[in-house]
Amino acid sequence: MLNKEITIKTIYQKIQDNDLQDLHNREIVLKGFVRNNRCLGQVGFLSVNDGSCFLNAQVVYKVKDEKITSIRLGSTVIVKGRINLTIGGYQPFEIESEEVILVSQTNENYPLQKKKTSFDFLRTIPTLRMKTNTFNAVFRVRDSLSYNIHRYFHENGYVWIHTPIITANDCEGEGQTFQVVADSKHPEEYFNKDNVHLTVSGQLHVEPFALTYQRVYTFGPTFRAEKSNTTRHAAEFWMIEPEVAWCDMEGIMDIEEDFLKFVVREVRKECPQDFEFFYQRVDKDLKKRLDDFENKKFARVKYSDAINILKEAKKTHKFEVDDIEFGLDLGSEHERYLTEEVFKGPIFLTDYPKDIKAFYMKMNDDNKTVRGVDLLVPTIGELCGGSEREDSYDKLLGRMNELKMNIPAYEWYLDLRKNGSAPHSGFGLGFERMMMLLTGMTNIRDTLPYPRCYKDMLY
Ligand code: 4AD
Ligand code: MG
Repeated sequence: MLNKEITIKTIYQKIQDNDLQDLHNREIVLKGFVRNNRCLGQVGFLSVNDGSCFLNAQVVYKVKDEKITSIRLGSTVIVKGRINLTIGGYQPFEIESEEVILVSQTNENYPLQKKKTSFDFLRTIPTLRMKTNTFNAVFRVRDSLSYNIHRYFHENGYVWIHTPIITANDCEGEGQTFQVVADSKHPEEYFNKDNVHLTVSGQLHVEPFALTYQRVYTFGPTFRAEKSNTTRHAAEFWMIEPEVAWCDMEGIMDIEEDFLKFVVREVRKECPQDFEFFYQRVDKDLKKRLDDFENKKFARVKYSDAINILKEAKKTHKFEVDDIEFGLDLGSEHERYLTEEVFKGPIFLTDYPKDIKAFYMKMNDDNKTVRGVDLLVPTIGELCGGSEREDSYDKLLGRMNELKMNIPAYEWYLDLRKNGSAPHSGFGLGFERMMMLLTGMTNIRDTLPYPRCYKDMLY
């Protein structure tokens, strides 16, 4: 016997492909949860979502069946019926029900009623949050984004390297790490190492692989104990870190731009219904912003020029931090001013003062600035941070000593510059910041299935 189960996604796909013969009057079985239940005279309408796509199926039933009219929102059902094509109507098909089996009725106080609920409130009901239109779309896009990131790298000859989560190094040197201890004891007792923590970045561990495979990347969770309760910082977030040998700072910017444009284009193609919802209901400017992101070339601006622009802007614009001089670690107000007001699109900001960047960045000949590059985007600020790496052993060691780093802990990393060094560059993309860019969601917590943030972890 033919399996009668079909997903809503398949039905929409067949309609789009004009494969109507196969659908017309077809007997089907649909399993899902109820999004809406209303009656109009003698007929009732159940909106059922089966999770396969953003849109629901409308199930038509006869109101005299009281068991169906009393089904509440959120309840799970199995629907047996036939597809009725209504191409050109408000929706292109309906399901004429023959039987609706109520599998589980929700409580009367089911929290997701038709009225709008705030994102803050939804975070307090983690088992239901993804059943709303917004989060249903967000997490589907999150999946598509991961998939297309992997796709880009694999189609372009990169090898995915799994870097460790437990480490003794602090890649960014900010000291904002979560300590790892075994059973409340000192880490020394388990690892024979003094200072063991969760990784803030896979970069140091992926660099050696770049010098063998040439094109590699990491994609995994990273952890930062930054004490900042902002809408753009999470304590646990995912990072993508490509690392490319024989590549300089210019080259890594080319790759970064090509990569980001590819994923934006492909994710939009893969999730059209979800994006339609974001454009209409989450952020009215999103569509234009994403079109621009895909189509316009990203500007490339030197840090020192950006400082001059900001100094000039200070005359007419009020910045909270306004002692703008060479050496200032730009805050998000400065970054957003540059990308939103001045360049009106994404910008690569390059050649930062060495003192505000990490130890591994390649020094410029001026001995003052490094070959570091941040990508800044409208509404978010910093999306990616990267650099050409210092590939000279002596210069790197010199810089690490200047910074009074614990050299023995990094001996293994320094070795890379002794045995078969080569120019190489890389960058790190904050996955959730990319999610914010794609969806128009303005709080990083609302891109994470279970957010972990400073002073804010609910379950
Ligand atoms: O700029 P960051 O610190 O760069 C690095 O970690 C380098 N090791 C990357 C590399 O060159 N391989 O972090 C990279 C990106 C940031 O641009 C930002 O998008 C994101 O990671 N990020 C965060 N996202 C969410 N919450 C936080 N607390 C974040 N901190 C950084
Ligand atoms: Mg950074």
